[in-house]
Amino acid sequence: MRPIVLIGANGQLGSDLVIALKSLRNPLIPLLRRQLDIRNHQNVRRVLAQYDPEFIVNTAAFHKVEECEGDPDQAFSTNCLAVRNLAIIAENLEAWLVHISTDYVFDGAGDRPYTEDDNPNPINSYGASIVAG
Ligand SMILES: NC(=O)c1ccc[n+]([C@@H]2O[C@H](COP(=O)([O-])OP(=O)(O)OC[C@H]3O[C@@H](n4cnc5c(N)ncnc54)[C@H](OP(=O)(O)O)[C@@H]3O)[C@@H](O)[C@H]2O)c1
Repeated sequence: MRPIVLIGANGQLGSDLVIALKSLRNPLIPLLRRQLDIRNHQNVRRVLAQYDPEFIVNTAAFHKVEECEGDPDQAFSTNCLAVRNLAIIAENLEAWLVHISTDYVFDGAGDRPYTEDDNPNPINSYGASIVAG
């Protein structure tokens, strides 16, 4: 059975998913940033090809909102371009890519709870980089 590769495994969401995904039958390969920096596109392609995953779960993000404002290149590099690379790799490997969005894609001006189908309208670089991803 092809494995699940979990990227960002020591993050807030990633560490919860390490526990939750262990109950599945697919072997779980949790990866830390020092093992796989998603901004290094060629290395990501090489490493993921080695594992030949059925699922790639990406919880890696540059999400310190104020730092994203000061360094939008870094925000887009991690939250957008690296995700595009993961999507291309997933397609080539015939793997599913699971990527996580955020409430910051919305402007907060709505008068009811948002759904995934609502149009995004980010008001900062972090939200814009996640929408682009
Ligand atoms: N937590 C929430 O309440 C919440 C709410 C809504 C949406 N989300 C979304 O959930 C996702 C995960 O958020 P989180 O709260 O779990 O974030 P987090 O705790 O900051 O974890 C992010 C993880 O990404 C890793 N990472 C950062 N840059 C990387 C890179 N270039 N290459 C590889 N790994 C990298 C970090 O590694 P290091 O520790 O080594 O830096 C860390 O393991 C994000 O997309 C976020 O928008 C989270």
